[in-house]
Amino acid sequence: MDKYLIRISITLVVVAASVLSLVSCDFETGSSANSHDADLGKKLFNDRRLSAAHDVSCASCHRADLHFSDGRTVSIGSKGKSGTRNSPSLLDSSRALAFFWDGRETSLEHVVLQPFTNPVEMGLADMDQLADRLASRPEYSELLLRQGSSLRVDKVRLAAVISAYLGSLPAADGPGFRHLSGQAVLDDDALAGLALFNGKAECGTCHVFTRGNNTLTDNQSHHTGIGFERVAGRIAPAIARLDEALATRTLGHAILSDWHVSELGKFTSSRRVEDLGAFRTPSLRNVARTAPYMHDGSVPTLEEALEREIYYRNLSRGTPIQLTVEEKRALLAFLHSLSDTNTP
Ligand code: HEC
Ligand code: HEC
Repeated sequence: MDKYLIRISITLVVVAASVLSLVSCDFETGSSANSHDADLGKKLFNDRRLSAAHDVSCASCHRADLHFSDGRTVSIGSKGKSGTRNSPSLLDSSRALAFFWDGRETSLEHVVLQPFTNPVEMGLADMDQLADRLASRPEYSELLLRQGSSLRVDKVRLAAVISAYLGSLPAADGPGFRHLSGQAVLDDDALAGLALFNGKAECGTCHVFTRGNNTLTDNQSHHTGIGFERVAGRIAPAIARLDEALATRTLGHAILSDWHVSELGKFTSSRRVEDLGAFRTPSLRNVARTAPYMHDGSVPTLEEALEREIYYRNLSRGTPIQLTVEEKRALLAFLHSLSDTNTP
């Protein structure tokens, strides 16, 4: 019996040891592969040569010093082409479940390839032109596949390295986030603001901020009232234009170049009438530093964004929530506590 027990425990130790070595081995290879990919992704992200006129990189519109947004109302792409949408921060892209202001995409890997050939962003003619540009630098050779005599972009690898870079960006560490994880205590104003945010003001029903989920978004789309006047009364022609863009696989271009199509919101992907003019709840991480606001960048200050949100949310709620000047001040103090301290 004793012998039997000893044998079992030896077997257990051996199994445990090999499991541990497997785990640590996986971990090591995983992390070093990831840091190689993240470094390569960072180079690509900052490389202007990958745009039509060698003038724009991902980082032109997603600037590290501006929390990966660009501070403009709407972004400006290669050859000075102006878009229809405000550049969103990419700091939490690796854990988002829906992408773009209208939430039309659900895979980061799919999203990161699109700017290269969107005429209003990097503006390359096609992925073959991207292959030519990549071929000019030896460190990009692993992103190319040889097919007969021609080089093609290895889209899976390219998407993986850019996504690895986005995944390597620092996690939120602002006082509000540290408070939530029990590492810091907020000052009284911000604390009162947090209570309002998740309580009376009901912001947290969409901008989810709980111990288990601090993403500040429900990844769902909602009506906002922002910008819809641009397309109201012109819905039918806008949908005709949308259909044309879908047929020619140029939806991203149509959205960033045609205000009417852009303002259709979530409808562009869901085709549900109730999604006309609905936009995805944005994260509020660093919100005090990423003006201007909303999908079209039409709201210049955080104070105004707060007023607009209270106003629109009240309209859709039916029974208005009255917030005093003091309470709005507290909400603002809380929004300021969402600013990172580990980035500029
Ligand atoms: C000309 C400016 C511009 C350039 C260049 C650009 N982006 Fe963007 N990016 C935007 C705008 C504007 C949006 C929002 C578009 C929308 O809602 O339809 C966006 C959205 C995104 C999103 C989705 C974020 C979210 O929260 O929904 C990701 C990821 C992204 N860009 C990554 C990149 C990468 C990677 C590159 C380079 C390959 C790049 N971008 C180049 C302006 C730009
Ligand atoms: C019903 C869901 C919902 C509720 C409730 C809600 N929001 Fe929003 N919020 C959104 C959506 C959707 C947007 C994007 C609107 C757009 O771009 O058209 C947004 C945008 C914002 C923005 C601008 C962010 C940026 O980066 O441009 C701020 C600030 C904001 N909300 C704060 C609040 C506050 C504070 C409250 C509570 C008073 C609140 N929101 C309540 C869904 C909601």
